[in-house]
Amino acid sequence: MLHLDSPAEAAHWCSAQRERGSSIGFVPTMGALHNGHLSLITRACDENAACCASIFINPLQFEDTEDYNAYPRDTESDLALLEAHGCNMVFMGSLDQFFPESSDINQIKTLPAGPYGSGLEEQFRPGHLDGVRTIVERLFLTVGASRVYFGEKDFQQTLVVADLAQQMGYPEVVVCPTVREDSGLALSSRNVRLSADEKTRAQQIYPALLAARDAWSSGERDPGRLSAIMIECLNHDGLVVEYAEVRDPGRWIAQPQTTPLEHGQALIAVRIGSVRLIDNLRLDQ
Ligand code: PAJ
Repeated sequence: MLHLDSPAEAAHWCSAQRERGSSIGFVPTMGALHNGHLSLITRACDENAACCASIFINPLQFEDTEDYNAYPRDTESDLALLEAHGCNMVFMGSLDQFFPESSDINQIKTLPAGPYGSGLEEQFRPGHLDGVRTIVERLFLTVGASRVYFGEKDFQQTLVVADLAQQMGYPEVVVCPTVREDSGLALSSRNVRLSADEKTRAQQIYPALLAARDAWSSGERDPGRLSAIMIECLNHDGLVVEYAEVRDPGRWIAQPQTTPLEHGQALIAVRIGSVRLIDNLRLDQ
């Protein structure tokens, strides 16, 4: 596996792949890789002649420096895992390299997240999805035409990124299923920051999503009642619910979503101690 230290070198490698007719599967990450990330790598390798990944902890998508500083970093393990899963090239880069036009982070002009940036994540992490869209645009420009793989785990992010890809005429965004522990807890780089006790609390998230799905199967279509069912399941000490909502993914932009839902995506964000976790589940499949 080739390990490149700059977006410029990565762009060069990707162009060379395309020139020789190889399709590229691209997996953007912030490192601290787990089996969720690796499922994307495996799929990108299976579906393309060449597979590449990026590791860049993007400061533009963190609202506070504390969370940015606490974000887990383990480059050595990441490189070994990527290589073992068949990745052909991984690239990293510095903020200066991705944004050569400004040397000061505060001067970097972020892109608005777009229509899917409204509500949920945006309400609790203002500017987060703007920061995601801004770096993902640079990553897309670096890698060029490719198939790009994202996890459904970050559902709202997939909507923002698919919108960006459409605007840029970017070939294909592939959304891959959420990988979970046996307990149902979605894998997340942030899970390593949970104590044993906090992890037990975090394991309430998936049952709450399943409770919404059961209610949906029994015919419940009222977003308020579905939300109340999830909040009831999450009602545990030490677990602070930021949101627990069901939205129609096809009518994301229509607000408020009070009418009976046709399709449903249940979405949850909680804080447990200093760790924030998100998860979601499609209800009508
Ligand atoms: P990161 O959190 O490192 O995630 C990289 C990719 O892995 C994302 O597409 C995410 O949805 C996916 N992923 C994370 N946990 C997963 C799980 N349990 N199952 C399946 N896929 C999972 O998301 C980001 O980085 C950043 O916002 C990024 C897109 C790289 C832009 O900075």
